[in-house]
Amino acid sequence: MKAAIYTKYGSPEVIQIIDVEIPLPKPNEVLVKIKASSATRADTMMRQGKPKFGRLFLGLFKPKNTALGTGFSGVVEAIGSQITKFKVGDEVFGEKLFSNGCNADYLCISEDMVIELKPDTISHYQAAPICDGFLTSYNFLKDIADLQPGQHILINGASGSLGSAAVQLARLMSAKVTAVCSTRNIDFVKSIGADEVIDYTKISLTNINEKYNVIYDSVGALSYKVSKKLLSSNGIFMTPVLSGQILCQRLLNPKKVKFAATGIKKTEELKRLFLDLAGFFKQGKLHTNIDKSYKLPDIAEAHHYLETGRKVGNIVIVNQ
Ligand SMILES: NC(=O)c1ccc[n+]([C@@H]2O[C@H](COP(=O)([O-])OP(=O)(O)OC[C@H]3O[C@@H](n4cnc5c(N)ncnc54)[C@H](OP(=O)(O)O)[C@@H]3O)[C@@H](O)[C@H]2O)c1
Repeated sequence: MKAAIYTKYGSPEVIQIIDVEIPLPKPNEVLVKIKASSATRADTMMRQGKPKFGRLFLGLFKPKNTALGTGFSGVVEAIGSQITKFKVGDEVFGEKLFSNGCNADYLCISEDMVIELKPDTISHYQAAPICDGFLTSYNFLKDIADLQPGQHILINGASGSLGSAAVQLARLMSAKVTAVCSTRNIDFVKSIGADEVIDYTKISLTNINEKYNVIYDSVGALSYKVSKKLLSSNGIFMTPVLSGQILCQRLLNPKKVKFAATGIKKTEELKRLFLDLAGFFKQGKLHTNIDKSYKLPDIAEAHHYLETGRKVGNIVIVNQ
């Protein structure tokens, strides 16, 4: 089978497509023939070994885990002897967290990990990226912010994978949504449910008088200094992007400033959130927004596009 790997940190050119044996499932694992997988900003950061302190976990001088790709959708091709939840032929989707290996033709995954039956209302192509934007933003909106109906949330980077998922989720949770994006993405963020839009190329947030219960900076482009003036008295500022500034503010204002790496949340808690999302997709309440797709051999090209920071929604890798 073909698999995308990287044996050193660096530009997209470090990615290689290699031939490897199809893995054999352990007793508690299923073998999935992958139909589509995600390519994400988080994947590019792991490939680059950035931020550098991340190398304490990823591998100091070279990546400990050379496999690429965290989200997948596909069909169960074989099952281990202890599998009770899935059978051969089931259509499944999920994520391999930091063990990666989804940008490949096959993967093995334990049935106790983040894997569920794919809702039959969505394709593999639409299911593959759900664990990036939707799972991450649902963790922030539900578990971290405990977003309530009627609350007002400002979502910065509303056209990205995490931001566009957050816009849809916040509307589903009956919050009022103000989306921040550039001129070219105004129609898009309105189409997915934003009540109000701020074009950051024309209006500075320093000139806004509104107060928000929650500010979710999905792309890590806002300073907390500017954002805190826009927060209501119990309001919180949260971001999935860690920086020195956020780390300091988090230490100084732990009740106001929130960061989380969703991938290191307990698996059972991720599964709870993921099950909710599978239900919402089955009911047609959420939709995946896909900017571009690439074939597995062209994955380096996908990473180049990811690194522009300009994608709208998600990037999908499709298998032949
Ligand atoms: N902590 C976690 O668990 C976790 C999990 C997954 C991802 N992440 C991180 O989350 C971040 C977001 O990833 P992503 O895939 O959603 O998006 P992304 O690729 O980082 O962002 C793309 C979008 O952001 C918009 N954008 C760029 N600069 C902006 C700015 N200054 N203000 C507002 N919008 C701006 C772009 O449109 P325009 O250029 O037209 O504005 C584009 O549509 C990444 O840094 C990723 O590593 C964290």
